[in-house]
Amino acid sequence: MVASEEDEQSNVSNFLRILYAGLPAGVTGTALVVWTLVGILAVRLSLYVVNFILWQAKIRRVMKQFPRDKRDRHELLSLEEDDRRSVWWLGPFITLLACSHPETIKPILSNKTQKPEWFYRFFRPWLGDGLLVSEGRKWQRNRRLLTPAFHSDILKHYVKLFSESTDVLLEKWMSRGPGASVELFDDVGLMTLDNILKCSLGYNSSCQTNGKSAPYILAVNDLARLIDERTEYPLHHIDFFYYYISTSGRRFREACKIVHSFSEQVITERKEKLKKKGVTFSSSRNGKCLDLVDILLQAKDEDGTGLSVSEIRDEVNTFLFGGHHTTASGISWTLFYLAQNKDYQDKCRKEVEGVLQGRAEMTWHDIGKLPFVTMCIKESMRCVPPIPQTVRSLKQDLTFADGKWLPKGISTVADYNGLHRNTEIWPNPTVYDPYRFSPENSENRHPHAFLPFSAGPRNCIGQNFAMNEMKVSLALILQRFHLELHGSKPPAVPCERITLQAKDGIWVNVHPLNTNE
Ligand code: HEM
Repeated sequence: MVASEEDEQSNVSNFLRILYAGLPAGVTGTALVVWTLVGILAVRLSLYVVNFILWQAKIRRVMKQFPRDKRDRHELLSLEEDDRRSVWWLGPFITLLACSHPETIKPILSNKTQKPEWFYRFFRPWLGDGLLVSEGRKWQRNRRLLTPAFHSDILKHYVKLFSESTDVLLEKWMSRGPGASVELFDDVGLMTLDNILKCSLGYNSSCQTNGKSAPYILAVNDLARLIDERTEYPLHHIDFFYYYISTSGRRFREACKIVHSFSEQVITERKEKLKKKGVTFSSSRNGKCLDLVDILLQAKDEDGTGLSVSEIRDEVNTFLFGGHHTTASGISWTLFYLAQNKDYQDKCRKEVEGVLQGRAEMTWHDIGKLPFVTMCIKESMRCVPPIPQTVRSLKQDLTFADGKWLPKGISTVADYNGLHRNTEIWPNPTVYDPYRFSPENSENRHPHAFLPFSAGPRNCIGQNFAMNEMKVSLALILQRFHLELHGSKPPAVPCERITLQAKDGIWVNVHPLNTNE
């Protein structure tokens, strides 16, 4: 007997009814589709929850191999444990293994790890796929295209810009009168922002004299602060809540818009100009040095493809973020230690005077003639590394030399702060002693014992830029001023806000020196 069309249809719907037995009779069409989707979602969610529970059980088991770090992460103490690996908990679910010995940090900074999305995604709306956050082939390509921008032939032109910005700071201090009290982070932060805006965008913001009131300057400053604050509040980790409900998240979106539209405008205008004038990589713009935008606009792959406007925008924003608070921290803390140690301050000044011979401007050739100033900067970055730690997740299982192991996917921390205070490498780690970095004392040190700029493939691309900027500013400041710690202001206490800053600032009195003597 051949089944009629009507019979066949009723068989199919009977089958579906049996399959979805929970549905009330008479429901078909859209409801069935919705019911199917709900079923798929429920299965996926259950799998996710089961996986999550199994993973949490696994990491709890693995982490038992290591001691738990009970310190407040904002505290800076010399480590006492022998192990130099300790477990950090961020909230109830995120566990990290912090490593602070050269041998345990080394594999964490190798190409067997990557930057974990749970942390770096906070930067994405601002920095897009810029060098700091990108991964894989995108990162490899951009790192290759960006490396020439930090070649010494380019960096040497920036020395003049660094000198000019320091001059503005010194004039500001001069106008405040002899012995004026100044908060270093505020003033130095504006100077390094001035520098990075000139060097990356060719933008003369006058932020040092006009203050932080311009919308763009306010936005740049707010973004770094807001990202740091976001890491502290678990509720703010949920994108929807952060961006659409919290006031911080809404401000973050608004600041991103301001910063993006400003940098895009500069890049587009510059692109047009470069097209018209036909400037080439080796030449300069109107006799002036090329800034990073010029160089990125001319960077090309082997097949002639360059970076798009939005890619350049992401990289410029990355430089602004990576190259502003970091150098401000490096300069401010070095000045703090020199104000605390008059002998070292005098020795630096003597070295600077010997090189500059009364000149008020630094040149490229002067930079290499400041070994003691360099030792002081390094010792300051040992005591207070501007970036105290970086997070990495393992792309494969890792077994340490002592047999202890970590599974793929776990998050680890390269704890530079702990490393720089590890008593096995640095005796009396809390004492500021620039001679640790004399050539004789550095000779046999482990290459991973001092890592302010990280190490491995993801090390800091801007480290030479940063060292030059710090040397120029410090030399010119010490040539013109004697610094003394302020007696009645709160003492300087390092505190972590992505970069290491000072809890209540660093207060010093600045005494002008007679440079004609
Ligand atoms: C004292 C100053 C500085 C310190 C201590 C410092 C430190 C670091 C550290 C520790 C990293 C690794 C970050 C990570 O793994 O997540 C890094 C990466 C980076 N830094 Fe710096 N930095 C400084 C200045 C600069 C400057 C001036 C620039 C640019 C003009 C810059 C641009 C970058 C970029 C783009 C990266 C990402 C590199 C990559 O992943 O390929 N930094 N920096």
